[in-house]
Amino acid sequence: MSTTTPLLDVSGLTKHFPIKGGFPIRRTVGAVQAVDGLDFQVGEGESLGLVGESGCGKSTTGRLVTRLLEPTAGRISYRGQDITHASRTQLAPVRSEIQMIFQDPYASLNPRQTVGKIISGPMEINGINPTGGREARVRELLEIVGLNPEHYNRFPHEFSGGQRQRIGVARALALEPKLIVADEPVSALDVSIQAQVVNLLQKVQRELGIAFLFIAHDLAIVRHFSQRVAVMYLGKIVEIADRDELYGNPRHPYTRALLSAVPEATVDDVPRERIRLVGDVPSPINPPTGCRFRTRCWKATEKCATEAPPLVQAEGNKPGHLTACHYPETHEATVPAGRLAKDPGAAA
Ligand SMILES: Nc1ncnc2c1ncn2[C@@H]1O[C@H](COP(=O)(O)OP(=O)(O)OP(=O)(O)O)[C@@H](O)[C@H]1O
Ligand code: SF4
Ligand SMILES: [Mg+2]
Repeated sequence: MSTTTPLLDVSGLTKHFPIKGGFPIRRTVGAVQAVDGLDFQVGEGESLGLVGESGCGKSTTGRLVTRLLEPTAGRISYRGQDITHASRTQLAPVRSEIQMIFQDPYASLNPRQTVGKIISGPMEINGINPTGGREARVRELLEIVGLNPEHYNRFPHEFSGGQRQRIGVARALALEPKLIVADEPVSALDVSIQAQVVNLLQKVQRELGIAFLFIAHDLAIVRHFSQRVAVMYLGKIVEIADRDELYGNPRHPYTRALLSAVPEATVDDVPRERIRLVGDVPSPINPPTGCRFRTRCWKATEKCATEAPPLVQAEGNKPGHLTACHYPETHEATVPAGRLAKDPGAAA
C-alpha cells in the first residue's frame, strides 16, 4: 500500500447490537458483538477481500462503512475526512462516492421499476445531470455492464439472476463511485455465471479505477479479485495480508483451515488434507475469552484463554502481513491427525 492517505481508513470499528429484555420495562440485557475493533485500510483503486464464515460480521462491516449502520465505537475516515458519525447532510457528497452491491439481486431491485428508472434513480436523488442526459448515461452504463441498452424499459423479472446483478452493478456505477462495497455479490448466483460477474467487477475495478471492499464466504472467490485479503472470525480480523502472502504463507490457524478447503490452493505450501474445523462458531453474544478462535483451535493453550492475541506483524511475516495468534503457524507445523479429513481431490 502507498504511504499517502488511504481512501478508506477504519480503526477500532465496533458494532454491538443491544439485546432488549425484561418486562414491563425493557432494558438492554446484553449485546451481539457483531464487529469488535476492526482496523483496516483500502487504498485508491485497490480491492480488499473480506472473508469469513457466516455470522462473523462481514455484512455489518460493509454496512458500517457505507454508513447504513451507526458504529458503536471506532473511526471511519474517507479520503482523510472523519465520517464516523457524519449527519445525512454532511454525508451527502461522500455517499455518492461509496456505493454498495448486495448479495441478492432479486431483493435489491424494485420489481415495479424499469431498469432505466432503477439505474437513473441515484442520479435523480443526487441531482446529477450528465451531459447528454440521464437516459443516454443509463444506456451507456447498461453497455458497460454487458447488457443490451435497448432493454432500458424492461422490468427486473425479465432478466436472469446474473443479468440482475449486472443491473445492480450499473446502478452502483451511476454515481461514479470511488469505493464499492460488494457484499457477496455472486453467492446467490449459479456457479456457472459467478465467474462472469466476478470478471465484470474486475473490469470495473481495473478500467474505472474503483476501489472495492469485496465480501465473500470463502477464499476461492477473492483470490482472483483482491490484492489484499482480510480474514474475519467472530467479529475480529484474525489475519490480513497481500494476497500471495496470505495464500502462500498463512500464519493463523483459522486462515490455514479455510485455505485447506480451497481445492486450488492446496498446492506445495499448504497441506493437501483438509483441516476439519470442529464445532460451530460460538455466539457473538458471549464470545470466548482471550482468543475467540480458541474453542475450535487445535493449538489452544491457557494463554489463549486469558489473553486476546493482538493483530501484529508476527515474526517471519512480511511487512503488512498481520496475524492475531499467540503461536503463528509455519510451513512445517503439523495438524493433529484427528483434525484432518482426506481431501477427496487429493491423490491417495
Ligand atoms: N440488526 C441486527 N440486530 C442484531 N443482531 C444482528 C443484526 N445484524 C446482524 N446481527 C448479528 O451480528 C452478527 C454478524 O452478522 P453479519 O450479518 O454481519 O454476518 P456475516 O458475516 O455477513 O454473515 P453471512 O455470511 O451469513 O452473511 C450475527 O450474529 C448476526 O446475527
Ligand atoms: S491464539 Fe491460541 S487459540 Fe488463538 S488461534 Fe492462536 S493458537 Fe489458536
Ligand atoms: Mg452477510
